[in-house]
Amino acid sequence: MSEIIFDEKSKVFHLRNNEISYILCVEELNILAHVYFGERISNYSGGLKYPRFERSFSTNFSEISHRNYSRDTLLHEYPTIGNGDFRIPAIEVEQENGVALLDLRYERYEILDGKPALNGLPSSYLTNDDQAKTLVIYLKDDCAKVEVGLNYTIFRDLAVICRSVIVKNYGQSNIRLNRAMSACLDMPHTEFEVVDLNGSWGAERQISRHSISPGIKIFSSTRGTSSHQQNPFIALVEKSTTENQGQVYGMALVYSGNHEEFIEQDQYGQLRLGCGIASYGFSWILEPDNVFQTPESVMVYSRKGLNEMSHTFHDFVNQHIVRGKYQSKLRPILINNWEATYFDFDDEKIKEIIDSSAELGIELFVLDDGWFGQRSNDRQALGDWFENKKKLKMGLNGISQYAKSKNMMFGLWFEPEMISENSDLYRNHPEWVLSAPGYGKTFSRNQWVLDLSRQDVREYIKQIMDQTLENVSIDYIKWDMNRYLTEVYSDLLPTYKQGEVYHRYVLGLYELMEYFTKKYPEILFEGCSGGGGRFDLGVLCYMPQIWTSDNTDAIARLKIQYGTSLVYPISTMGAHVSAVPNHQTHRITNLAIRGAVASSGMLGYELNPTELSNEEKEEIRTQIAFYKKYQQLIQEGIFYRLRSPFENNETIWLFVSRDQRKALLFYFQKMAQAAPKLDVVKIPGLNPNAKYLIDDKVIYGGDELARCGFYLFPFLNGDYMAKVFEIQQLDTIL
Ligand code: GLA
Repeated sequence: MSEIIFDEKSKVFHLRNNEISYILCVEELNILAHVYFGERISNYSGGLKYPRFERSFSTNFSEISHRNYSRDTLLHEYPTIGNGDFRIPAIEVEQENGVALLDLRYERYEILDGKPALNGLPSSYLTNDDQAKTLVIYLKDDCAKVEVGLNYTIFRDLAVICRSVIVKNYGQSNIRLNRAMSACLDMPHTEFEVVDLNGSWGAERQISRHSISPGIKIFSSTRGTSSHQQNPFIALVEKSTTENQGQVYGMALVYSGNHEEFIEQDQYGQLRLGCGIASYGFSWILEPDNVFQTPESVMVYSRKGLNEMSHTFHDFVNQHIVRGKYQSKLRPILINNWEATYFDFDDEKIKEIIDSSAELGIELFVLDDGWFGQRSNDRQALGDWFENKKKLKMGLNGISQYAKSKNMMFGLWFEPEMISENSDLYRNHPEWVLSAPGYGKTFSRNQWVLDLSRQDVREYIKQIMDQTLENVSIDYIKWDMNRYLTEVYSDLLPTYKQGEVYHRYVLGLYELMEYFTKKYPEILFEGCSGGGGRFDLGVLCYMPQIWTSDNTDAIARLKIQYGTSLVYPISTMGAHVSAVPNHQTHRITNLAIRGAVASSGMLGYELNPTELSNEEKEEIRTQIAFYKKYQQLIQEGIFYRLRSPFENNETIWLFVSRDQRKALLFYFQKMAQAAPKLDVVKIPGLNPNAKYLIDDKVIYGGDELARCGFYLFPFLNGDYMAKVFEIQQLDTIL
């Protein structure tokens, strides 16, 4: 059940379901104040009404003469700046007369069944209006003529509240919006820590945990994409919170461009947490009668640690973000030729790869970069999305048919947002590059970015990619994006609107993703950006899986996949077995650990199967058979992080099927130890009253496994080792 209650007398709004409550209220002078977010409250009677008392040097309202009520200290829902609250604001505007403040007062509210879609932006969806209820609160500044609609959707079955904001200009002159956050959460003084996911190319989504001290800390991407550097996610945790206990407030953004997550501890220890489009480089001209829609933010509450937060995010993403045919369809096991050939391939090589992959039981062949225009290295041809018949004489159709004749599906790589200097596209349309008058065009990976804010550019991409997609039988597309944005300026926009280009780029990208995924609903799309540089909920609204990292080294992947799982379900993570020495780290690991790590995601291969020994081929056949046996459990089961690679030599994670009948425990060891500790592992999530058979050998009770656990023995001998325990429920219930 989810419900939204408004108490007319106390002017308190209470959103709740069986797990959580979110409470806010209209305070004196119609200021919208935050009251509470956390575990469900059955009766709220006003205990957290903000006390009235005087704080020296705090501000007071112009309308009242007493000094015990102040914007400066109150907990707000959508704070502004310039008239008494000095903390980081949720919104900043500039009026035409230069006035840069906003005084938002409560106007009215609406309660809706279900959840309205966002204006022009991807967002979570429902399959049935019963699944959620939405509260919209309208605030207004009648001097600036700005109305702000705060949307709060509470889900029936998940500890989730989604928030988004619509800003409307109902006056006669333009308003410049310099900041418009998707959510802001003020909290009373509490000793929290903050968890974020940061990294770089090849080391995405590493978990960091920091203490909070007075001042503002902003986590952000200013790179034009959600980025390798900082994932659009932040969580507040209690000092004692672990994977399995303690409170967690998680916040993620459904957006793929510049973003920021901020935390401020004010002078009295109160906290302000929020997220939205990064203010850096952002300003938006809101013309009369126009609205600005912020991206959606997803707030999750857990009182049982980070694992429970992740379970909620995972269910939310699988049920309300990912859509289309592959939402609940098992994903094909793929082979990608990138690391096998790079740009150096021809018909014969490709056919050989297809032949030997088919023999191994691989289901989908993906032709990566290098199939189009004059693309023989990374200095040319991006933008020329037509096949290169000199390189591939049998053409894309020939290759697709060849793959099908071997019972394999066919997939293709595109990098639609990019352009090379040496390309027909650039020769014909130099004005389509994102660039600033008077300045050079910064290269990255020898390429430039197309100005997706332009409609003519978007039309070209649609038309040129359609030519291939309409004529070749394609089952899968890898949509890549291999650099960040620079010279963010668009020729077609007037000077005063240049602050819109970053966001307009993302809107253009979403228009393209919407177009292709709607037009080709049978195709499985996989997002990519130099690996996992755009791994976010925005992309996942279109593409059910994303290439997690270019780094395929099994040991590096332990941290990358472990960190990614904080927010994103296993079903979204592309994970491939590659050759050794690994191309990114040069590390040599055995095929077993590479298989075990890649089997903990959406399995694929990224190596040349023609170069494998017979033993390796046999081992891969066994890996594939194992994966197919457990694919549903891995793709749809409940994932538990049991031991972190960030702090330990060992990593342990677990998949438990929804019906609790099966589980898989993955145990990894980085370095061998002369005198290892004897470790006990406890298995959560099983039926306490059932009996389980481990590896067809030993029988344990479900509660025994949860409470006593078992010894991880015999020890794993050697560096980079993996062992997978298969856990099966016996039919007799105790
Ligand atoms: C990016 C991707 C790789 C590969 C190359 C091709 O780096 O992440 O998987 O597709 O581009 O250029």
